[in-house]
Amino acid sequence: MAPNYLSGFGNEHASEALPGALPQGRNSPQRAPYGLYAEQISGTAFTAPRHQNRRSWLYRLRPAVLHRPFAAFAQPRFHNRFDEAPATPNQLRWDPLPLPVENEPVDFLDGLVTYAGNGSAAAQAGIAIHLYAANRDMQGRYFYSADGELLIVPQQGRLSIATELGVLELEPQEIALIPRGIRFRVALPDGPARGYVCENFGAQLRLPDLGPIGSNGLANPRDFLAPVAAWEDVEGDFELVAKFQGELWRAAIGHSPLDVVAWHGNHVPYKYDLRRFNTIGSISYDHPDPSIFLVLTSPSDTPGVGNMDFVIFPPRWLVAEDTFRPPWFHRNIASEFMGLIHGVYDAKAGGFAPGGASLHNCMSGHGPDAASFDKASAADVTKPDHIVDTMAFMFEARAVLRPTAQALASPQLQQDYHECWQGLRKTFDPDRR
Ligand SMILES: [Fe+2]
Repeated sequence: MAPNYLSGFGNEHASEALPGALPQGRNSPQRAPYGLYAEQISGTAFTAPRHQNRRSWLYRLRPAVLHRPFAAFAQPRFHNRFDEAPATPNQLRWDPLPLPVENEPVDFLDGLVTYAGNGSAAAQAGIAIHLYAANRDMQGRYFYSADGELLIVPQQGRLSIATELGVLELEPQEIALIPRGIRFRVALPDGPARGYVCENFGAQLRLPDLGPIGSNGLANPRDFLAPVAAWEDVEGDFELVAKFQGELWRAAIGHSPLDVVAWHGNHVPYKYDLRRFNTIGSISYDHPDPSIFLVLTSPSDTPGVGNMDFVIFPPRWLVAEDTFRPPWFHRNIASEFMGLIHGVYDAKAGGFAPGGASLHNCMSGHGPDAASFDKASAADVTKPDHIVDTMAFMFEARAVLRPTAQALASPQLQQDYHECWQGLRKTFDPDRR
């Protein structure tokens, strides 16, 4: 059965899977309906300004405290250690992660591989960037991160994410946002699945202000979809995995923690279809900065500077006259981790495959490869170009993204990435204006 969704970003939602399960008028009545326990989860400080305040009330079979003690364990490829290797200024690019082989079952949690990051959960600033490749459902195990919200970007294969607040059905070119602390389990309706995860240690992702763009455009709030309440009443020998201060912990739990019958609030998971993005660009000449493609931003303490910005490069018309239309050569203060979800990225002729990734750190030069430069320099820019069949994204970070030792040692790391620019010849001629 296809789940319904509740539309809107950041506002108060309410859902009950049984009639009357949601108490009316008060959050914590002496006795909650149906013998449910009332429990609050807060995602911001209690005293955060009202427009930023996030919390939800859950009405559930058992409170979240009911499990055995946690013990530390390691999933060696999934971590927050960003000091293992010098942060290289080299431009880096990786081929897609191979999918697990059929007779080696790997679930979403075991399939996470940390590529880069900065800051920490303790500092409440920075991000971790993970890729995943998995081929089986999480069975009898549930996960939450106390360290950061999770922005999940599937590239291949659908994900069915059963959360405490309900089920998000996700396909490539959609994203999910799982807030801090919300417990969930991932199933793979298509089998093998691959994608990207940004773990955000900073302020919760929000929609950017629109300034002169006006009251519409970019990602529209109503396209963010929260799940409806759906509880499981299941008992068994299960495992609850917590990510806490960069480490993994697991506890035995005798029931499914996805046992919330009703809830209300705004600390909720969302999904969003990137194809709904209202893309805005130049209709005269030149490029706006890629901030025009901003979907969600995690603000830092410095006004206008994001801890992390989530940016996409969707299908669009390019009409700028007398303009080199692909992204121009550049060096930025921010550090850019890119992935390709679908199709072809217009600034590269090859080597950046769906499921692949690139990292261009603070002040490292990059831009179109030689083949793309030659093509775009000779293109007829009196006519519009329609870029179709593409969906690339960027996790753009304020602080340098430090690749992990395993990312630098990965067989997927392209040792010859720099070669794509070596064909850029000097064309300067002082006698030819
Ligand atoms: Fe860039």
